[in-house]
Amino acid sequence: MSDLAALTAQALTEVAACQELAALEDVRVRWLGKKGVLTEQLKGLGALSASERPAAGARINQAKESLQAALEARRGALAQEQVERELASGTLDVTLPGRGEEPGGLHPVTKARLRIEAIFRGAGFEVAAGPEVEDDFHNFEALNIPANHPARAMHDTFYFADGRLLRTHTSPVQIRALKAHGAPIAIIAPGRVYRNDSDMTHSPMFHQLEGLVVGENVSFANMKAALHGFLKAFFEKDVGIRLRPSYFPFTEPSAEVDMSCVFCEGRGCRTCKHTGWLEISGCGMVHPNVLRASGVDAERFTGYAFGAGIDRLAMLRYGVNDLRLFFESDLRFLRQFRTLGA
Ligand code: DAH
Repeated sequence: MSDLAALTAQALTEVAACQELAALEDVRVRWLGKKGVLTEQLKGLGALSASERPAAGARINQAKESLQAALEARRGALAQEQVERELASGTLDVTLPGRGEEPGGLHPVTKARLRIEAIFRGAGFEVAAGPEVEDDFHNFEALNIPANHPARAMHDTFYFADGRLLRTHTSPVQIRALKAHGAPIAIIAPGRVYRNDSDMTHSPMFHQLEGLVVGENVSFANMKAALHGFLKAFFEKDVGIRLRPSYFPFTEPSAEVDMSCVFCEGRGCRTCKHTGWLEISGCGMVHPNVLRASGVDAERFTGYAFGAGIDRLAMLRYGVNDLRLFFESDLRFLRQFRTLGA
């Protein structure tokens, strides 16, 4: 027991010499661990006589306690030094905004759709919707496109095994809306449509805008005014329009709507292929067969309908030259619309 004081002194010297927390832990284990030097001393008490044991035990415990206190103090000092080193090694500006806190924004196609909805709502239209998984009746049959009609070949339809399909256009919403609400009616139906077609200007999923107005004495002139008014409001420009005769099974007569080019004002540029005109929509007077298939009295009511590409409208409004950019989710592209107004 005589060397207990010497052992304690040595342990305290080792503690004082520690420069790192890990080294300090080694010292603790060496002296106070299960097989530590002081722990072994306690085990040695059994060899002493009963009269010597209490005093010897007390001395060893005292040595342990002073060593424990020294370890605690040194641990605190080393931890403090480490904090000070870290603070000195670099400055930290706690007023900087955190990383990865980018605000989101609306997709340009969504922006265009909301803009379209606001314009038509202001003109008394309601916004209607229909399912993207459609049946043959609504997508084709009721729209005067019976089986084997050549127009079906133009649609590149995705079919499911049970005969249902991904709608190839938003026109089936005409049927659903008329069946649900009857005439008179004035709706637009924006939404996703699908065709098995993909290149620079075609995506297998794209967005269409359907319009339908049915009532008594609804005329072709009403349609022209509505479309012209919409385009002027959407582009915030006094654009010109022209209607070219065309064919759609669900309208008669049918027309293509051209709008004077928003980029060159009709002088001719790459976007309008030097024609001065942009093809913007199909339209026409609702075919009586469509009204009848929807349970509407085709003697009493007439109507007009139109179908335009929302993606194309968005491209023209925001100056985007490649349709695929809309569907690639590239943040470098999308970020540019974050702060842009409608
Ligand atoms: N559904 C046609 C298409 O996808 C577009 C269309 C043309 C819709 C004329 C109409 C319309 O309502 O009257 O090609």
